[in-house]
Amino acid sequence: MSFPALTPTQVRSSVDKLPRTRLAHLPTPLEEVPRFAAKIGGGVRVFVKRDDCTGLLLGGNKARHNEFLIGDAVDQGCDMFVWGAGVQSNNCRQTAAGCAKLGLECRLYLSRAHHKTEPQGNLLLDYLVGAHVDFTDAKIGPELNALLAAKADELRRAGRKPYFWNPPRVVPLSAVSYVLCVTEIAEQLTAMGLKPDALYVSSAGATGAGVALGKSLLGLDCLARLICPMHWPWDIPTRMADDANAAAERLGLPHRLTAADIDADESYVAPGYGLVSPGGREALKLLATNEAILLDHVYSAKAMAALIADVRAGNYRPGSVLVFIHTGGIPAIFAEPNAVLPEM
Ligand SMILES: Cc1ncc(COP(=O)(O)O)c(C=O)c1O
Repeated sequence: MSFPALTPTQVRSSVDKLPRTRLAHLPTPLEEVPRFAAKIGGGVRVFVKRDDCTGLLLGGNKARHNEFLIGDAVDQGCDMFVWGAGVQSNNCRQTAAGCAKLGLECRLYLSRAHHKTEPQGNLLLDYLVGAHVDFTDAKIGPELNALLAAKADELRRAGRKPYFWNPPRVVPLSAVSYVLCVTEIAEQLTAMGLKPDALYVSSAGATGAGVALGKSLLGLDCLARLICPMHWPWDIPTRMADDANAAAERLGLPHRLTAADIDADESYVAPGYGLVSPGGREALKLLATNEAILLDHVYSAKAMAALIADVRAGNYRPGSVLVFIHTGGIPAIFAEPNAVLPEM
């Protein structure tokens, strides 16, 4: 089934109906990286959507997500956040930052896995903005989500009003923020007389669902390559389509996606979530040494490795316009310098 394409103004007016707390520096720049593009060959044009520059405690995609999540929490009268992920979570760092700005208490449950718990990178920033941090051995995904729901329950019984990481509620709202990011990109390219041939982003969740939905709402005739940083114990395209559809529903729009509309690529995860890959290391080095833009080894470098591989495979004609949405994640490299340094 096909749905009418919306203008950027129509997309914005449907988003305007949702509660929102302004936190991010928007619009982020769309910056061409010609020295990098020349190095990867193929005659393509590469633009970096600088969501590593969203502000809110050193930038990243979660500044956009949090505009809608904190907006939702405030709208529901919540007085605290109960959040969790890995020790070097960018999500938790930017949520802690948003809470500090709004005067909300922030309790983080951080899954230790193989991470050190010295205050460095994202964890250092969590402490600096006043988050209450607990470490846990619960694995990120369903186990940690159940722990967060149980903590929120306990707090509710004690008379608090917690807003917690409840995927069916928070993922679609976060996706809405990436509908707006794609809208910004469309507007910025139109102002340059250009159209995108492909969008690239690191995601196995909300961000990618929002990018896929934004592309569909605006009727963009381009690829939306969603490069997964991890595997999940569910079918990622199906879950992303469901989340995109829940976001469209929140926006009061009839547009719907199926798993077939989701180009989620899990082939760049190796050697594992959080671990640097050879392609990621090359991407990080090429962008840093030619454009002075940093990538992180966990997320953005692997997505850029996919862009480079696609260009080298001859998938794009010369002159194609490729947009890389830089989701940030930079603080993690300070916690793991050896992950990014050895071969530089
Ligand atoms: C830097 C960075 N990029 C990409 C992602 C993927 O975001 P999402 O889970 O919303 O798809 C994350 C998630 O934590 C992240 O921290």
